[in-house]
Amino acid sequence: MTDAAPPIDRPGGRAGRTPRPLPTWVGPSTRLVHGDRRPDANAGSVVYPIYQTSTFHFPEEHSESVRRTYLYSRNENPTVEGPEQLLRDLEGAEAARLFASGMGAVSAVVLSLVRPGDEVVALADLYGGTTDLLRDLSARFGVRVRELTDADARAPESVVSAGTRLALIETPTNPLLRVHDIARWAAACDRTGTVLAVDGTFAPPVNQTALAQGADLVVHSATKYLGGHSDLMGGVVAGSRRLLDRIDSARALGAPLDPFAAFLLSRSLRTLALRVARQNESGRMVADALARHPAVARVFYPGRSSPEEEAIAARQMGGRGGVLTLSLRGGGPAVDRFLGALELVHVASSFGGVESLACAPTRTSHRHLSPADLSIRGIDASLVRLSLGIEETADLLRDLTTALDALPVGRAPE
Ligand SMILES: Cc1ncc(COP(=O)(O)O)c(C=O)c1O
Repeated sequence: MTDAAPPIDRPGGRAGRTPRPLPTWVGPSTRLVHGDRRPDANAGSVVYPIYQTSTFHFPEEHSESVRRTYLYSRNENPTVEGPEQLLRDLEGAEAARLFASGMGAVSAVVLSLVRPGDEVVALADLYGGTTDLLRDLSARFGVRVRELTDADARAPESVVSAGTRLALIETPTNPLLRVHDIARWAAACDRTGTVLAVDGTFAPPVNQTALAQGADLVVHSATKYLGGHSDLMGGVVAGSRRLLDRIDSARALGAPLDPFAAFLLSRSLRTLALRVARQNESGRMVADALARHPAVARVFYPGRSSPEEEAIAARQMGGRGGVLTLSLRGGGPAVDRFLGALELVHVASSFGGVESLACAPTRTSHRHLSPADLSIRGIDASLVRLSLGIEETADLLRDLTTALDALPVGRAPE
């Protein structure tokens, strides 16, 4: 037996144990790498530890003014606070909160802001889980939900009224990557006192910051680009302190991010800018190349639907991301053959991770929608959504082009 281990928190500490605060002049990529630069009181570790605990010792001298305390991990946990603060800063927000999934974040926004009788206006082609949530609230709690066609959503000043409590938009959208004008929506919502919440899951904060365009709240599924490795579920809401205080009350819904997932998220955020830069580059190159392939009827990529959308994307986005959707000439059977011929790209739903994925939206993300709902959204069986990871662009192009070449309509004319 050895002697008892010395106390970890050695009195007096070591020289240089406390990291210096991050200089204010650093850019977003540097902030991401150094983001969680808080002192670790126990061992001085460079990487902040996982406080895998549900509860904390209650301080004997319990006075808020004496020291900040942690009580219970559903409300606050030091490991979760790190990525919350980093995402708050990246989004240029006053506050940010992490939840157990993107839907945890979306439902916290909706349930904390909307009352029976209120109107919510929402894009018809929001993420399916969000549409289901809104329809359920409408059926059971008397919330009036107006689902907007793309044409309605282009003129927000004519759809938002004094009775509209919340406007919920997504940009870019899924799976057609349509781009909506956040600043124009913000101006329309300002006039009526409506809260504008933007789901920016397809555009992580290194590509788009919705709050800077005037949105009141921005939501992301952290399961996608922010987590980036297809190994965690999470969601974040960022915005003003006032709105986040209201959303905090939704913590009673019981869906905080757990400390281990928060640790994974902190680890992932260090490389967000690098990963997304590669995904932006591959997205643009693959969209250009596949638009010329004879088996492809159309490529959907942010800004490419019309010159108007290109102008909006140029204004409010940096990179356009690694997700694109193809419409294949041979319809559903061509999609099956294409997916079956891929050697490198995984056939799976989700997006934003380091490994490339392909899926048919009518059989995955949008499978629960009726034929009428699909047709309003312009979604049919010819679509394949591609999420490009960080593999070499040439390898991705080779795998995708070989699979397209195998389609009967894809063969180059003799
Ligand atoms: C745009 C968008 N918002 C929200 C969500 C929900 O996120 P999660 O799956 O993390 O609950 C998704 C999921 O795909 C999404 O695509």
